[in-house]
Amino acid sequence: MLPVTWEDHEMQSLVGVLFVALATASLVTAQTANPRRTVWDGVYTEAQAARGTTAYGQSCAGCHALATEGKAPLVGDPFWKSFAQKNVGDLLEFVSTYMPNGNPGSLTEPTYRDIVALILKSNGFPAGTTELGGNASVSVQIVQKDGRTELPANALARVVGCLTKNGADWVVTSATTPERAEREGQRVIDAAIEAARIRLRPILMTSFAFIFGVLPLALATGAGANSRAAIGTAVVGGMLTATILAIFYIPFFFVLVRRGVRDGLVVIRERLRQRRREAQA
Ligand code: HEC
Repeated sequence: MLPVTWEDHEMQSLVGVLFVALATASLVTAQTANPRRTVWDGVYTEAQAARGTTAYGQSCAGCHALATEGKAPLVGDPFWKSFAQKNVGDLLEFVSTYMPNGNPGSLTEPTYRDIVALILKSNGFPAGTTELGGNASVSVQIVQKDGRTELPANALARVVGCLTKNGADWVVTSATTPERAEREGQRVIDAAIEAARIRLRPILMTSFAFIFGVLPLALATGAGANSRAAIGTAVVGGMLTATILAIFYIPFFFVLVRRGVRDGLVVIRERLRQRRREAQA
């Protein structure tokens, strides 16, 4: 039997596979260390909610009831219907972008935060020792105390499971609990950044798994090595370039296209309004 050397083609493939396995293992362990904060962790203070009471009385109480019933209630079922599985950042963003209705954005950021603290308190979430801040609130999830949350009907949801055929129907088996997928009031650029953050790891994992997989081809020696090396080099180089470019290009074009479409719609709507006004005059 011949001695096994580094030159050996099989040996190189094996090293390639080991590389992929190691890279995958370390990425998976990094993924699990991500404790999530919820509204039950005390994300505002009593003092902050108390401050919110005055501002709420002046700017919101005219249209909203801080109770489960009454006009446009912000507590209980109506609250869960709109904000279950979203996060406090979404609530803050909605309120500071659209409220008070008719005069949106008229209050200061700290005041909006105080009012959101009051809304959280009114919904029975406990106070804590740190005030509700701007950026930290983005990751605070709105879920029931036991972590379980039923999504309202017609909510856009995300599940991960296996799609299997059962007679004429397709069913999702071994699925995760549905997670809310849409985010109201999120800026296009924030959506792109968040998506990039979430997808970066899987994209790198699949790309590098493939690159390391064809690496032995690029480093081939022995009989027929030239053609294998030629293909391998092209594939490795192409994948590396595509991965590096895509990481920056895709979020960039997403923002460009979404902004373009939205701004375009705004322009068209303005034109239509103007035409209608001219027709009436
Ligand atoms: C002039 C009346 C008016 C005022 C004042 C007003 N709102 Fe609203 N609010 C509305 C209306 C109408 C809606 C529903 C609009 C929508 O869903 O797009 C709404 C929706 C909301 C929602 C979402 C409720 C849900 O179930 O989806 C929140 C939260 C909210 N308002 C908070 C506030 C806060 C906080 C203030 C004070 C800073 C405020 N609003 C002031 C009229 C008002």
